[in-house]
Amino acid sequence: MFQASSFLALCLLATLVSAGPCDIYASGGTPCVAAHSTTRALFSAYTGLLYQVKRGSDGATNSITPLSAGGVANAATQDSFCAGTTCLITIIYDQTGRGNHLRQAPPGSAAQGPEAGGLDSLAAADGAPVTLNGQKAYGVFIPPSTGYRVDATNGIATGDAAEGIYAVFDGTHFNGNCCFDYGNAETSGTDTGNGHMEAIYFGSGGNKGAGSGPWVEADLENGLFSGGTTGQNNNNPTLTSRFVTGIVKGEANNWAIRSGNAASGSLTTAYSGVRPSGGYNPMKKEGAIILGIGGDNSDRAQGTFYEGVMTSGYPSDATENSVQANIVAAKYAAASLINGPALTVGSAVSLRATTPCCTNRYVAHTGSAANAQIVSSSSSSAAKLSASWNVVAGLANSECVSFESRDTTGSFIRHFNFVLQVSANDGSKQFREDATFCPRAGLNGQGNAFRSWNYPAHYFRHYNAVMYAAANGGPSDFDATWSFNDDVSFLVGAAFA
Ligand code: AHR
Ligand code: AHR
Repeated sequence: MFQASSFLALCLLATLVSAGPCDIYASGGTPCVAAHSTTRALFSAYTGLLYQVKRGSDGATNSITPLSAGGVANAATQDSFCAGTTCLITIIYDQTGRGNHLRQAPPGSAAQGPEAGGLDSLAAADGAPVTLNGQKAYGVFIPPSTGYRVDATNGIATGDAAEGIYAVFDGTHFNGNCCFDYGNAETSGTDTGNGHMEAIYFGSGGNKGAGSGPWVEADLENGLFSGGTTGQNNNNPTLTSRFVTGIVKGEANNWAIRSGNAASGSLTTAYSGVRPSGGYNPMKKEGAIILGIGGDNSDRAQGTFYEGVMTSGYPSDATENSVQANIVAAKYAAASLINGPALTVGSAVSLRATTPCCTNRYVAHTGSAANAQIVSSSSSSAAKLSASWNVVAGLANSECVSFESRDTTGSFIRHFNFVLQVSANDGSKQFREDATFCPRAGLNGQGNAFRSWNYPAHYFRHYNAVMYAAANGGPSDFDATWSFNDDVSFLVGAAFA
């Protein structure tokens, strides 16, 4: 016989399946007070703005909305608006209606950003392509010196008030530096003392957990806590999945860290219990929101953010488990980083400039200095070899490529302070990342442009015959917008030697 109680259970299930994360938090009595995502709406009824991009060609901005109420971002809008140029993410809108939008972070007491006025850099709009249930979207790929913040907020927990935070990250993009965070921080960009922050940290730094990391930890200010006390917490697992869910929540003398694979399965509780000693009880939360940086704008960390929220009230584990089921059902999957003609791994190539001044110049090197030299069939064999490169699988990401010098095998083109160098692979994670470049179609319509994997706003560029990893309109002279599209576009041909 049909039971009224099973009917109600079915209705509840149907509601939760169509509900977004913020609908689930609201049903649990802990509503979202900030909701940020460049990939999808986080309320089932949301049709408003998700994020804003600004393009390099003319400085125009455009905002991206979901394809439908509660749906995935309309990435095609971004692709057409940004075609043949570069785009940066300028605003990540708050979907709750409270106006807690994330924008380019201002300087803090720990670090000035590299941009004018000491602002942090903005993320390239195409650094983190993914699909959700097969539909293309872009996350926020955050290199060092990049960060977003809002200091004057509405509804975010202050003092010892309760809150919950979750975010979805790329489990393969991290480092051990301070601090790739999302959550509650100081309103002044200054380290005002222990307990003035409550944010999710993701990376291989801090107090560490089991294995070699990365871990989800809590940034409570002057401490990246892996568990309830300072020191390693072996109950906090290394996360090896491509997509990671991280949770930090806190209320009066009680808090927790939870994490899991954002593409399948359930959450693990790494810690749940009382506050650490040393000024963390009661908490003195200030209610600003940070993304990609520490509370004092410490900006040497890297990571990728896809979506995240902050709630009012301490969410139950059951509510968070439903949110995790919703994230899994969104079916995050990696999408190709290559956008244009691919290069063949195992081939030997030359890279010819396409700027009208310089079509007889090729990417070459003199010792460790990468430059754009005039080379032809009558050049010396040494000159020809210096402009010839082996294409190998990207040292940090095999979807992209690295360029090995044919006259100095074991040495690769890498960027350092955004100048291109040819140096020996020292085997470090930093070297591998600095030496990995993702091809896209040339921005002037010819050949290829080569985007840095770890700084996707930066491209191979010849400038006064020197090679750089340049950002369109960035802070250095070699970032000049004038001639940018031509200077970053190269014709790939056979190696000279
Ligand atoms: O707690 C770790 C970091 O320490 C904070 O994010 C920053 O404000 C301080 O430097
Ligand atoms: O080129 C930018 C950065 O400069 C590199 O990632 C790093 O190795 C150096 O500090």
